[in-house]
Amino acid sequence: MSVVTTLTRMWLTKSFKPFTFKNEYDEKLPYEECESLGLYIHIPFCMSICNFCPYCKVLYSKELCDEYIDALIKEIHITGSSSGEKKQVTSLYFGGGTPVLAGNRLSEIIETVNKYFIITEGIGIELHPENVTYETLSMLQKAGITKISIGIQSFSSKYQNILGRNAVNIDELKTALSKVHFETVSMDFIFALPNQSFEDLKDDVDKAFYAGANHIAIYPFIDFTYTKSSVEAMSKNEKRKLLDDITAYFFEKGYVRNSIWTFADSKNTGYSSMTRDNFLGFGCSATTLLKNQFKINTFDIKSYCSRINENKLPTSLTIRFTKRQRMIYWLFWTAYSTKVNADDFKKFFGVSIEKMYGFELWLAKVFGFIVKKDNIYEMTLKGAFYYHYYENFYTLSYIDKMWGIMKDNPFPKEIKL
Ligand SMILES: C[S@@+](CC[C@H](N)C(=O)[O-])C[C@H]1O[C@@H](n2cnc3c(N)ncnc32)[C@H](O)[C@@H]1O
Ligand code: SF4
Repeated sequence: MSVVTTLTRMWLTKSFKPFTFKNEYDEKLPYEECESLGLYIHIPFCMSICNFCPYCKVLYSKELCDEYIDALIKEIHITGSSSGEKKQVTSLYFGGGTPVLAGNRLSEIIETVNKYFIITEGIGIELHPENVTYETLSMLQKAGITKISIGIQSFSSKYQNILGRNAVNIDELKTALSKVHFETVSMDFIFALPNQSFEDLKDDVDKAFYAGANHIAIYPFIDFTYTKSSVEAMSKNEKRKLLDDITAYFFEKGYVRNSIWTFADSKNTGYSSMTRDNFLGFGCSATTLLKNQFKINTFDIKSYCSRINENKLPTSLTIRFTKRQRMIYWLFWTAYSTKVNADDFKKFFGVSIEKMYGFELWLAKVFGFIVKKDNIYEMTLKGAFYYHYYENFYTLSYIDKMWGIMKDNPFPKEIKL
């Protein structure tokens, strides 16, 4: 598995050097120099734990949650106050876990963020279906939330049972959503579940349209080695057919593809905490990507709070990029949107993409993975599938390995990938 990602990394970075993450960090993060900066806040509490879920989360307790939010607010102060002036950022996303479990403190968190940052494209939050009530949605709207993303996973009882999720009442969902307006109402599904057919998936998508979604994410099921899920992964060919068929169905319904796994009713409807050039992450397990570095906060809640209480950042690991490594990161995450704008690459790196990756782009065109329109490289259906396929390798060789280590060790000495 990791042979594929290792060879790709060596080829594209033109070096044998692995990605090395070290247990050291900057006390003052150099984010002022970054254009197109996004913000992410992680809230790691859930009412029950799903056995397929790889994210950093623990069972909710009010006491621990309050202690954590106090530390989180302090982390925002530490980083925000290191800059002389307010920094313009694109968006703020709350993820988890189930961030609404800290709902009574959301306004306080957002006010703290607003002290140091100017958010220009709205605030998003992930919700569990049980959070979708008129009262909670109104509270979110009042706090300034403009986009919501609901983790449905599946509306079918067969797959809810396999995933260990409760039934979702679609009519109650629809009624609550119709009463409170949000610019983006996204719904998450997990697909490529055992024996799942196109009809099964189409039924989920139709129900999402009916309930009021204008943005839909379909994530292929990933079997992380450290989770306890017994769900079997689907074969490559079956998965490809399912992905191609559902993509065609979205297009038939007038939807646009705005990333490998997301579809929206218009190109202006978005929900993505990933497709940004740079981002600052707050909270345990949150990642930060800046011009020359990528860093990850500790996954351990108690260690997170103690570091913050010593007035130190809760960074567990940092990688300082070579130029080629940064290019790979940039390309990987930009390609996730299915488009790579050659002008944006030039603006970010000061050199043309054709000069750095002319041969690879030519090869991708010959294989039918991309087409070039104006100055933009766009993925074809085939290209999107292979990106998705490669992403699976990446997730299992890099993210699975790293998160697997970090969930047991708050501050590992070094990780080489
Ligand atoms: C933090 S959760 C969403 C919010 C909320 N906690 C919930 O469960 O409804 C983020 C999303 O990641 C996706 N996800 C979680 N585990 C996954 C896995 N093993 N494979 C693929 N997608 C997964 C799910 O679609 C999930 O909605
Ligand atoms: S899928 Fe959502 S509710 Fe389930 S454990 Fe993960 S974050 Fe919590």
